[in-house]
Amino acid sequence: MTNKTGKAFDWSIFFRLYKYSQPYKLWFFFTLFLVLALAGMAVIRPEQMRSLLDEALPSGDGHAVLWISLSFLGVLLLETVIQYVQTYIANWLAQRITLDLRSTIFKKTIHNKLAYFDKTPVGQLVTRHISDVDGIAEVFSVGLLDIVRDILKLVVILGFMLYLDWKMALVVMLPIPVLIWATRLFQKAVKNSFQDVRNEVARMNVFVQEHLTGMHLIQLFNNQKREQRKFEEINQSHRDAHIRGIWAYSVFFPVVELLSASSVALLLWFGVKQSLSLDISPGLILEFSTFITMMYRPIRQMADNFNVLQMGVVNAERVFKLIDEDNSETDHSESALEEVRGSISFQDVTFSYVDGQPIFERFDLNIEAGKHVAIVGSTGSGKTTIISLLNRFYNLDSGSIFIDSKNINYISLYSLRRTIGVVLQDVFLFSDSIRNNLKLYDESITDESMIQASKQVGAHDFIMALPGGYDFDVKERGTLLSTGQRQLLAFVRVFLQNPKIVILDEATSSVDTDSEILIQRATELLSVGRTTIAIAHRLSTIKNSDVIYVLEKGRVVESGSHEELMTLGGHYCNLVELQFTDK
Ligand SMILES: Nc1ncnc2c1ncn2[C@@H]1O[C@H](COP(=O)(O)OP(=O)(O)OP(=O)(O)O)[C@@H](O)[C@H]1O
Ligand SMILES: [Mg+2]
Repeated sequence: MTNKTGKAFDWSIFFRLYKYSQPYKLWFFFTLFLVLALAGMAVIRPEQMRSLLDEALPSGDGHAVLWISLSFLGVLLLETVIQYVQTYIANWLAQRITLDLRSTIFKKTIHNKLAYFDKTPVGQLVTRHISDVDGIAEVFSVGLLDIVRDILKLVVILGFMLYLDWKMALVVMLPIPVLIWATRLFQKAVKNSFQDVRNEVARMNVFVQEHLTGMHLIQLFNNQKREQRKFEEINQSHRDAHIRGIWAYSVFFPVVELLSASSVALLLWFGVKQSLSLDISPGLILEFSTFITMMYRPIRQMADNFNVLQMGVVNAERVFKLIDEDNSETDHSESALEEVRGSISFQDVTFSYVDGQPIFERFDLNIEAGKHVAIVGSTGSGKTTIISLLNRFYNLDSGSIFIDSKNINYISLYSLRRTIGVVLQDVFLFSDSIRNNLKLYDESITDESMIQASKQVGAHDFIMALPGGYDFDVKERGTLLSTGQRQLLAFVRVFLQNPKIVILDEATSSVDTDSEILIQRATELLSVGRTTIAIAHRLSTIKNSDVIYVLEKGRVVESGSHEELMTLGGHYCNLVELQFTDK
């Protein structure tokens, strides 16, 4: 997560970033042109002041005084307008690029395979999508163009001063080497603290996100104090990183003021001395002193903007890494399953989440089309993994899985997942209305069929009892609903998709008897005419299955009907007796 670049500036990333502005090339160059115009105009007003003082004033020409004053005002107005347009376009451009970049990252992320999410903290991905992209936007809104403007302004001002009076110009420039050296020091100090701040922000995102999700656990185990302490630690390093940056600013700015003042002092000493010998006018001294202020301001800002630029490049590096890494689901096939009968066959399947720790080794399982089978087994035996593999959430190490004797690797993911309906162990609901959670924005599903399905599954009554009925907002992760209610919604969801194969991963947490009866009925309803795999913890629900498989440590240790397995008197019989004595 921590990211420090050793390189001073990574040009290749910068150029790649620049390419994102290409769709808006015209606007980019227009705003660049305005920047050039602004830099060029920098010398006009000081020139006007000089001519006012040196020419109009001594001649006592009231008309000229008025004219110069008015044109002074005009130039100021023009500069303001250009500045406004330039700032607006630059920020508009930055927001367009932000939008494009965010869409790209999100599109990439949403197609990544599940194994990627197993190992990437959510908070880190949130940081990539939100604050990292904001950092990149600043490159376009301020960083890049402001640096160009400041450098140009500096060149124009220095050039003009040399042109006006090269000797005096060189004298007032004497403190500049010191300034350059101070700026370098400052820029480095700020860069480090800037990077630290960003890293701390990312850390904080991960921490807060994780703790909000796991809040019930923290409170159940009375861990508030300990977690608070951990948070304080992150919070403090975040503050310290900020303060290091502020310290650099608070030293640097007075130093710039000091140097600027010494330039003015040098100007006064040299200018006044020269003016005694009559070749320097008071107007010129005033013009020079204005130039000095104008010259130091951009130098001060340049260090800042360079950091913005550099941080943008660091952020871009992280974001590009996310874009470049190939974590996407492999979907080489266009081929769709048609006229599915629904037989499933695992042949010689070896699979491990972590290399060297296989969950399944040479695993075989054959389920005939239309059969209702159940899988039981102790926790961690690999039941949920079977669902993941059948849906191609993970790649097999070796072996193959077939649906209707078609290798699932050669079926398009869309078609595969359309064929299989899953009620997952943990039902996930989006913070949205019940309607959208049931239809999942599938426009081919009508309200009538949704209500019909809910009635059949037995969810309609409790939905109607909620305020707003189908419009009821379940809030984040559906926390406002009970486990049983969430399960029923998941049944309706699958029912509406009308898949040929149904897999039910029963929630481990128990639900009340009423919900249990509803779920039992819904299961039977869903099974009709479909190959059904029920992963059951409550064995009472699977007595009528055609075949029951007992899974232990990734192996089928027993299989047969309820009666057969009871007669066998093995694992299954033990499990049933255990549950029976439990109750
Ligand atoms: N995403 C994952 N990454 C790494 N290991 C995993 C992952 N998911 C599961 N495992 C491991 O794989 C094994 C099988 O897990 P699985 O979820 O299939 O068990 P299960 O039979 O469904 O258990 P339960 O009855 O508790 O739901 C477990 O040892 C688990 O630790
Ligand atoms: Mg499971």
